[in-house]
Amino acid sequence: MIRGTACLVALLAGVGSASADPESDRQALAGYFEQRFPDVEVASHIDGAYALNEQTREQWLAMEDFPPYEFSVDDGEVLFGASFKDGSGYQDCFDDGNVKAHFPYFDREKQTVVTLELAINDCRVASGEEPLAYNGEDIALLSAYMAFASRDSVIDIEVTPEGLAAYEAGKQYYYSRRGQLNFSCSQCHMLMSGMKLRAETLSATIGQVTHWPVYRFKWQEIGPLHRRFVECNEQVGAEGLAYQSETYRNLQYFLTYMSQGLPLNGPASRK
Ligand code: HEC
Repeated sequence: MIRGTACLVALLAGVGSASADPESDRQALAGYFEQRFPDVEVASHIDGAYALNEQTREQWLAMEDFPPYEFSVDDGEVLFGASFKDGSGYQDCFDDGNVKAHFPYFDREKQTVVTLELAINDCRVASGEEPLAYNGEDIALLSAYMAFASRDSVIDIEVTPEGLAAYEAGKQYYYSRRGQLNFSCSQCHMLMSGMKLRAETLSATIGQVTHWPVYRFKWQEIGPLHRRFVECNEQVGAEGLAYQSETYRNLQYFLTYMSQGLPLNGPASRK
């Protein structure tokens, strides 16, 4: 099922070059995975490792009959509907919550990548509320509800000329080796995608951001994408960074563009 790595050279050639073009990157990456997994449609990668392993896919689908994130979505809906002290609320910032398709984006004034979590806190602070902790429960519940409200919307973000440096930084991060094992994200999620690492099948780069936040059985709770980044850093003996650090937001910007055009399917469950 797994084929060679012909396109990798072309992909890596673009790393760090000033003239990079996100759309060419995305197409090259889609081509890479099409060649590597001829039987798997690119859009199927939104199911992560379960797109690549029939056996675990069946267990996972059975589990989805009683999705473990259901209560988080309900609790998030209550939080989303509550009013701030000044009478306004999240709806004034995010309408019905179906906004995820356009996150993250590069904010010209702030000169930084704005994720949904950052926007949630901006919304609060503008109304005189305290920001939520990025590693806390409330922000995970709110984003679970908004992910649910955004389901099936197609990722439609923009890498603007101002945002290109942030995109490039994220891409560079993905292809750079780090930690005691000296491994890059791309080594596991491109070169070794579909193979097993200990008991786990490695997911593909494409589709890695479509379904967050995720209820993980290992965590026994729902958690954000950046928690997964921390774990993947630690797996290779590198230090995890703070949730919503600039480096992780840039990484998310790159990864989200790699999933441009795919439907959102969060929240999700994972082992
Ligand atoms: C040593 C191999 C290894 C490296 C290096 C690695 N990961 Fe992972 N990653 C895993 C394993 C194992 C899993 C769990 C199985 C899966 O879903 O791919 C995982 C899962 C993920 C997931 C969740 C996928 C899903 O469907 O929910 C994301 C996102 C992710 N990794 C991103 C990264 C990023 C970004 C980097 C670089 C900072 C990275 N990984 C580096 C092994 C690795």
